[in-house]
Amino acid sequence: MASAASSTAPDVSQGVAHGVAPLRAGQGVSFVLRRLHSLSGIIPVGAFLFEHILISNSTAISGPDAYARQVSFLANLPLVFFLELFGIWLPILFHALYGFYIWYRGEGNVSEYPWTGNWMYTAQRWTGGIAFAYILFHTWTMRFTGVDLHTFPNYSFGKVQEELFRPALFAFYIVGLVAASWHFCYGIWLFAAKWGITSGEKARQRFLVVCLGLFVLMTGVGFASFYSFRSRPQQPSGTGIEATEANHEPGTYGKPVD
Ligand code: HEM
Repeated sequence: MASAASSTAPDVSQGVAHGVAPLRAGQGVSFVLRRLHSLSGIIPVGAFLFEHILISNSTAISGPDAYARQVSFLANLPLVFFLELFGIWLPILFHALYGFYIWYRGEGNVSEYPWTGNWMYTAQRWTGGIAFAYILFHTWTMRFTGVDLHTFPNYSFGKVQEELFRPALFAFYIVGLVAASWHFCYGIWLFAAKWGITSGEKARQRFLVVCLGLFVLMTGVGFASFYSFRSRPQQPSGTGIEATEANHEPGTYGKPVD
């Protein structure tokens, strides 16, 4: 079951020197799961990451109001809970769990990763693992605990600030951003090689430059958003006094504080 891609793919080093083994049809369920894992990294998980960093969170660069408007827009999408469940959480869970399984089984021949030996192979696994830890933490604190930002989007900027003003959490955000961006951008390159979109060494080398450019763009925009959160005064966040008052007066919880 385990090594469909690696065991069914012939030694590609004969055809493409230092290439990545293409995904080949073969051993049933394992092959389908391997393809689904690869595809889910791009759609919907990668598409979501792209949107989250480059579109939604980049609005923080324009300040708290723009950020609150974007959160409000997302929160009011039709059937938002099901969109999150089937478009984000379950696909990430599948990609992550199957990713850990691939890691554990040592699937994919290390020597099939190009250039820096098995560095890229190792980095793809560790960045996935780090991203997973970060995503769990981030989803828990931003979506499932504290003030509900879907109901009270005006607290979004302040809630993120509260985490980014704490040095250890700020460091974790930086590591999470870099790990997830690297994993995704190098993952696009891997995907293109495996699915035969880039065939031949030259095409792969050119496409690597594109993917590295996307990595620089994503981390750059992410850092600009961090800077915006950290350089502005702390905004109301729905915790502390406001939340305590809310316990006494239920209807007032989450109202913007001037
Ligand atoms: C931020 C969320 C994530 C995104 C956007 C993402 C995206 C991708 C992409 C685009 C690929 C390339 C697909 C391919 O290899 O054909 C990939 C590969 C991979 N991902 Fe993820 N991923 C994410 C999280 C994770 C997590 C949490 C793990 C768990 C360890 C993981 C493990 C892997 C592994 C092991 C591979 C390489 C598979 C191989 O070499 O055949 N990913 N990912």
